[in-house]
Amino acid sequence: MAGRFTSKLLNAPIVFNFKDLILLPGLSRVEPSEIDLRTRFTTNIELNLPFVSSPMDTVTESEMAIALARQGGIGVIHRNCTVEEQVNMVKRVKRSESFIIRDVLTIGPEMTVGDAHRYMREHSISGLPVIDGEGRLLGIITGRDVRFADPSLKIKDAMTKDVITAHEGITPEEAIELMRRHKIEKLPVVDKDGRLTGLITYKDVALRKMYPNAVRDEQGRLRVAAAVSPFNLNRAKKLAKYADALVIDVAHFHNSNVISATKKLVKEVGIDVVIGNLGTREAVLDSVSKIDEVAGLRVGIGSGSVCTTTQITKAGAPTLFAVAQAADALAELGADIPIIADGGIKGPGDIALALALGASSAMMGYVFAACKESPSPMTIIKGTYYKLHRGMGSPEARRKRYALDRYSQPAKGIPEGTEMWVPYKGEVASVVAELAAGLRAAMGYAGAATVREMWEKARVAWVPGSLEGFNRGLKTEF
Ligand code: XMP
Repeated sequence: MAGRFTSKLLNAPIVFNFKDLILLPGLSRVEPSEIDLRTRFTTNIELNLPFVSSPMDTVTESEMAIALARQGGIGVIHRNCTVEEQVNMVKRVKRSESFIIRDVLTIGPEMTVGDAHRYMREHSISGLPVIDGEGRLLGIITGRDVRFADPSLKIKDAMTKDVITAHEGITPEEAIELMRRHKIEKLPVVDKDGRLTGLITYKDVALRKMYPNAVRDEQGRLRVAAAVSPFNLNRAKKLAKYADALVIDVAHFHNSNVISATKKLVKEVGIDVVIGNLGTREAVLDSVSKIDEVAGLRVGIGSGSVCTTTQITKAGAPTLFAVAQAADALAELGADIPIIADGGIKGPGDIALALALGASSAMMGYVFAACKESPSPMTIIKGTYYKLHRGMGSPEARRKRYALDRYSQPAKGIPEGTEMWVPYKGEVASVVAELAAGLRAAMGYAGAATVREMWEKARVAWVPGSLEGFNRGLKTEF
């Protein structure tokens, strides 16, 4: 007869991860090119592609977040730095492009051409709207006006007075048409009383055309998320002023102190908060029922390419298992919260499996660390280029003091991550295009035209052993 402990052993569930499963082909009515990859990152943030970059210091800083948002995904800026550094990285993404610039630099009519020249040089801009004390637009002064003019000349005598302006409701297409027609590069936006409310530049509108799939906010700025500790409310509040969402960045979210700190944080910040990492049904039920507004779930524990958590502690919730558990828990709660599959994803097939089990998007460290836009160093070994990827619980990352509260020295005496050199893959744009094409192909096999249809229609099968035998001779890694 099996006693309590023997039963525990014999009833141990089987947990699957990427290498154990395949996607079963199903009846398809769509061509891969017709497949819609749009999804949600959080309850309020939509993505055009289900790709998210991990908050790791070899993966996501401004350059990665900008590149990924332009392609249709989103980056989560890491927190292994000071609050100011992290806020600046978020600001850089938000400032990289916008349809209507709101914090417009202006100049007064009584100032001089010399002042304008200096001001433009200091801020690397090529033109300044001229406004009176009430904020009404009087003219515009550009590089062309100041270059050959006497520096002591008053602005009011050097500026262009007949300014072409736009009203708030203008669309990007109308703005481009207006700027082309009048051969101008700057279009001030004014209200009905002629007060300056914003500025449209040709460069920004052109970027919109160049990246039609970009993920933008209401003001046309690229979207970006930022990682935070639940115990650092000050950092969270500062980031919340600029970021579109915050991602709680702890290795094990199912912990009463973490849950109560997050509950408080969610109330204070007033923007979408993703919680994680979660690994089991119970963890999701407990967390979602205790925190008022959860905007997303980041799931998977110990499966990351540079994780040593499971090796060392034997604790873990493989990403695919965690996704299925979270999806079931949400169904039980009747909650419609997007799930982000995190850890161990190496290519489009892995992403397809995660979607099949209920995820809305895939978070990747390994894949994006290998790109040109990651902040990690590059090296060349025997003629091949590699970039560094390191776990945030690795000894090197832990040495940077701000990582201390995730896999910290005081709380945990051992490192839970390592580092590796990953083969260089080039620009985010081409890596994302390859991921998207592969994912569309996978969804085509599954007979799913959308992410939601993947949840409903896609079936998976267990391959005993691993895919290495199944795919003998084929390269299974992306
Ligand atoms: P990939 O496989 O995409 O995984 O590189 C990225 C995810 O790994 C997690 N992460 C860690 N997990 N020790 C861990 O156990 C670590 O040092 C570590 N650093 C990152 C994290 O969830 C990330 O998104």
